[in-house]
Amino acid sequence: MRDAQPQAIHLQDYRAPDYWLDATELEFDLHEDHTRVDSRLTFRRNAASAADAPLLLNGQGLELLSIHLNGTLLDAQDYQLDEESLTITTVPAEFVLEVSVRIDPAANTALEGLYRSGGMYCTQCEAEGFRRITYYPDRPDVMSVFTTHINADAEQYPVLLSNGNKVADTTEGGRRRVTWHDPHKKPAYLFALVAGDLLVKEDQFTTLSGRNVTLQIFVEPRNIDKTEYALDALKRSMRWDEEVYGREYDLDIFMIVAVDDFNMGAMENKGLNIFNSSCVLANPATATDTAYQRIEAIVAHEYFHNWSGNRVTCRDWFQLSLKEGFTVFRDACFSADMHSATVKRIEDANIMRTVQFAEDSGPMAHPVQPDSFIEISNFYTVTIYEKGAEVVGMLHKILGKEGFRKGTDLYFERHDGQAVTIHDFVQALQDANKVDLTLFKRWYKQAGTPVVQVESHYDATAQQLYLTLRQHCPDTPGQSNKLPMWIPVQLGLIGSNGDDLPVQVSPANAWTEASQVLHLTESEQTFVFSGLAEEPRLSLLRDFSAPVKVDFEQSDEDLLFLLQHDSDGFNRWDAGQRLMLRWIDRARAGRFRLAAAEQQALSALLADTQLDPAMVAYLLNLPSEAYIAEFSAVIDPLAIHSARRQVQQALAVALASDFAACYQRLHSTAPYQPQPAAMAARSLKNLALSYWVKSSAEGMEQARRQYQQADNMTDQMAALVALVNSGERAQAEALLEDFWQRWQHDPLVVNQWLVVQAGSAEFGTVEQVQALLQHEAFDWRNPNKVRSVLGAFANQSLVNFHRADGAGYDLLTDAVLKLNDSNPQIAARLLTPLTRWQRLVPAAGQVMKARLQRIKEHGSLSKDVYEVVSKSLI
Ligand code: PHE
Ligand code: ZN
Repeated sequence: MRDAQPQAIHLQDYRAPDYWLDATELEFDLHEDHTRVDSRLTFRRNAASAADAPLLLNGQGLELLSIHLNGTLLDAQDYQLDEESLTITTVPAEFVLEVSVRIDPAANTALEGLYRSGGMYCTQCEAEGFRRITYYPDRPDVMSVFTTHINADAEQYPVLLSNGNKVADTTEGGRRRVTWHDPHKKPAYLFALVAGDLLVKEDQFTTLSGRNVTLQIFVEPRNIDKTEYALDALKRSMRWDEEVYGREYDLDIFMIVAVDDFNMGAMENKGLNIFNSSCVLANPATATDTAYQRIEAIVAHEYFHNWSGNRVTCRDWFQLSLKEGFTVFRDACFSADMHSATVKRIEDANIMRTVQFAEDSGPMAHPVQPDSFIEISNFYTVTIYEKGAEVVGMLHKILGKEGFRKGTDLYFERHDGQAVTIHDFVQALQDANKVDLTLFKRWYKQAGTPVVQVESHYDATAQQLYLTLRQHCPDTPGQSNKLPMWIPVQLGLIGSNGDDLPVQVSPANAWTEASQVLHLTESEQTFVFSGLAEEPRLSLLRDFSAPVKVDFEQSDEDLLFLLQHDSDGFNRWDAGQRLMLRWIDRARAGRFRLAAAEQQALSALLADTQLDPAMVAYLLNLPSEAYIAEFSAVIDPLAIHSARRQVQQALAVALASDFAACYQRLHSTAPYQPQPAAMAARSLKNLALSYWVKSSAEGMEQARRQYQQADNMTDQMAALVALVNSGERAQAEALLEDFWQRWQHDPLVVNQWLVVQAGSAEFGTVEQVQALLQHEAFDWRNPNKVRSVLGAFANQSLVNFHRADGAGYDLLTDAVLKLNDSNPQIAARLLTPLTRWQRLVPAAGQVMKARLQRIKEHGSLSKDVYEVVSKSLI
């Protein structure tokens, strides 16, 4: 909470710290009503700093008990204390500082620093949470070796964990004292501590070089039957990182702890990852296939951070994408290898086009390397993570698999143990490959989604195709007149038989044969393809080779042809989505008719047993309302909703027997397995069911049967969702009640139950969401519950959220103001949908804007909420 206007921090103001830290020793004394933290910090002056440089420590919400410098107690004249820092005016070149503070973890609802979740204590220190534990140089370029002692009631907290290896464990007078030592230097944001009455699931892993590592997952006792899959995913991740990046694990023990109250998905603390329980716990009865895949990806992501983030870390928070973009790229490749590369690409492009493109076109747009922020927590965004990963993916395409690996080997070797910048990463890739990536680096500096305009012309006599590509990038806050970017455009030329034609292009140096990539580096370029006896169809931006929008007029026939024949799976899907967007547009204008050829093509896809069923499910899936919105110049959520409904109903009727047959072919009574092939089959089967219920009583009957008989949550939930969205209200209500009765004891399942309702057009009305907020299942202090109700409502139940009288916006506004006091991070995140007012039809936009003003006028805004609101009102 603050009075003065919060100030922005700028990348250009970065200065190395005046004092380095060699060792951090911490003593925690945990009590029910408070915790005492004693620190012993060994400092050394930076050789480049002045002898009279003061020592600056960060600290927030701490009760200072004492400070000793080289053993001497300091008094109040020796230091200055304010709300956010402690400054010691005069210090020698080398010294030991001992600070004692008192904190109150039980009262910590922001879930940053040390807090209580259920019956346990845990920490979250990224980005700037450590300063809520003790006074400290809380910045990632200050790295030190940590020793941590934890004292707690021996009976109540049998498990006491911190980073590294356990080196001592004693009990005296009912209090236990455990000591952990982490030999690897690290910044404070990677520190972690856990104390609780937990059960552990244990396994072993032998690294490629033959070292044995103990793997442990700690959970509350009721969750011990939900640990198996994460452990399996962890072992696969460890093997994968050895094989694909040559990276081995570097401690004797790797621990994961599941906690219920967590602001994000998970955290890569050195040797002691802490996970939101929804991102690690699963068993067949309670978790859907989607949850299994999310768990696999997040376990891998956090594990991969051990190298991309921990061994090599960020110099400052402007470099956040150095670790996050790279690590998301790594986990995406891992998921692609475990399942289907094409499907993973479709999922990632979907996120880019719905969420990231929306961020890029809104008031919070920022480059992958931002140049300023007020509150760093607001910059854990899809731009830093997903666009950052896309940028790394383009480097991979440009350098090729081997060149990229040479580059990352050099990066890890050169910077091991250092805190570095995005520039250092690109420089290593460049040095290992002898290419000039100067131009490419604009991707890190320029915000916004580039648009590539395409014009093509075929000359039959010369047997040549002329392809002109133009790029421009719209203005974003603080940035206009952007420079052209290096855009890798992967492409194919398709002959009339559906085969790819050989590509001969001039200028030849614009083409990389191995990756089939054309390099667009100027604002306009014309490429000439020769040796073409027939006019080819163009398949552009295959594999979503760059995070751009493509503006290219292709006929319905061309799109249908690509949907059926493109050798690039991603572009088959993309062609289908482009067609469907046209259908939805026509439905809005009241003139949609499914052509016979289109119907036949979809019907053939549903019957095709050669294709990956997960891929077919995506091919038949209509773009979401959010996706359609992003492809609209002006967003009219109500019109989008009803047009999409119409097309959905038309497909359900036209393809009724195809969906039924597809369902019957894939429905299996074999026991549930969280295996890729079985997951893929279930995804298509359940997609078929979602259409089938819309056309026949038989489909409804089958959905009821599936709901009752399923041995797994994937099928049970899919049937529930299909029935809830089928329009039969009384039945849906009965099923929702039945589901609650079955699952009220399991918070992770209850979260899903909340999402089904709050995110649906039928059950996610303002009144019903208000009722959910009063339900015994709801808890304002648990971020998962807040996301399941309010997040689902504002991001998925768009007809209700955008209700014309603004009641949906009011609901969200009230929630933001309430959470502003208890959990500012969650409040700011929840606010996102309200920042998009400028893209809405003007009437709705103005109603929304008024809510932002109401928030801005509220008395004491957190930095988090203040930043988002003030930037959105410019
Ligand atoms: N660093 C975490 C990850 O992406 C995310 C995170 C950020 C978690 C901040 C908590 C707080 O792996
Ligand atoms: Zn991460």
